[in-house]
Amino acid sequence: MAREHFSLAGKTAVVAGASRGIGQAIAALLGEYGAHVIALSRGADGCRETVDGILEKGGSAESQVCHIGKLEQIEAFFGWLDEHHGRIDILVNNAAANPYYGHILETDAASFEKTLEVNLRGYFFMCTAAGRRMRDAGGGAIVNVASANGLSPGDKQGAYSISKAGIINMGKALARECGEFGIRVNTLVPGLTRTRFAQALHDDDDFMAKMMPHTPLGRGAEPEEMAAAVLYLVSDAASYTTGSSIVVDGGYLA
Ligand SMILES: NC(=O)c1ccc[n+]([C@@H]2O[C@H](COP(=O)([O-])OP(=O)(O)OC[C@H]3O[C@@H](n4cnc5c(N)ncnc54)[C@H](OP(=O)(O)O)[C@@H]3O)[C@@H](O)[C@H]2O)c1
Repeated sequence: MAREHFSLAGKTAVVAGASRGIGQAIAALLGEYGAHVIALSRGADGCRETVDGILEKGGSAESQVCHIGKLEQIEAFFGWLDEHHGRIDILVNNAAANPYYGHILETDAASFEKTLEVNLRGYFFMCTAAGRRMRDAGGGAIVNVASANGLSPGDKQGAYSISKAGIINMGKALARECGEFGIRVNTLVPGLTRTRFAQALHDDDDFMAKMMPHTPLGRGAEPEEMAAAVLYLVSDAASYTTGSSIVVDGGYLA
């Protein structure tokens, strides 16, 4: 396949949760392949480093504040987008909440609700707002970042695992109803990746002792290894791929 199929030149890409970790690596790679990247996170300073990194490499990027757990902030962001860009070609939903790490029976209601507010409601309304605009413009590509825990629940991560399973189904539901508009919706299913989010897991000796013998590649992933799969999914190289989940987990689920 020609290299041009991976080019994102002329496309506007919104990456939610782009201030660090996997989202930062995704934003950097989409910028490197020519997209104008709009990097979102909760804090005003959050995405500065991400944007600076893209600009330093000659790319095009800017940042916006958006807490995807708050519907009014999603609406405000898309209002800003309509005014300043009038289009969205690519959406990557990567931000996530995992406020509780402990036995499932002790999960408190506030943690459960926060997890669903961000991981399910936030992803869903980001997708519908982007999807309506993509439909009106004739197409687009959406990638939602789930987790291996969405296919096989992680110990002490009950609510989070449930939300990630929902994201996998959300991708299929959106793909089924949006294919007719030229919108492709796919899901990235990462395994353990070296980021701040996963620090508690890296620091849990019991968890690592259980996990590594079942990981054929024998290590956690680097964020850049997730970004490569997202580049494929949002590019024209994946023009016949929708409703799918790409598992990038070092073989853990196998
Ligand atoms: N790391 C892993 O091992 C692993 C494994 C499987 C799946 N995943 C998934 O991969 C994705 C990224 O994880 P990561 O490890 O890179 O996490 P991370 O390093 O903690 O980064 C999370 C990003 O999301 C932003 N964010 C958090 N809550 C937000 C909200 N409500 N609204 C907007 N932005 C928000 C954060 O920025 P601000 O704090 O500035 O808002 C940050 O940019 C998540 O969906 C996670 O579930 C990670």
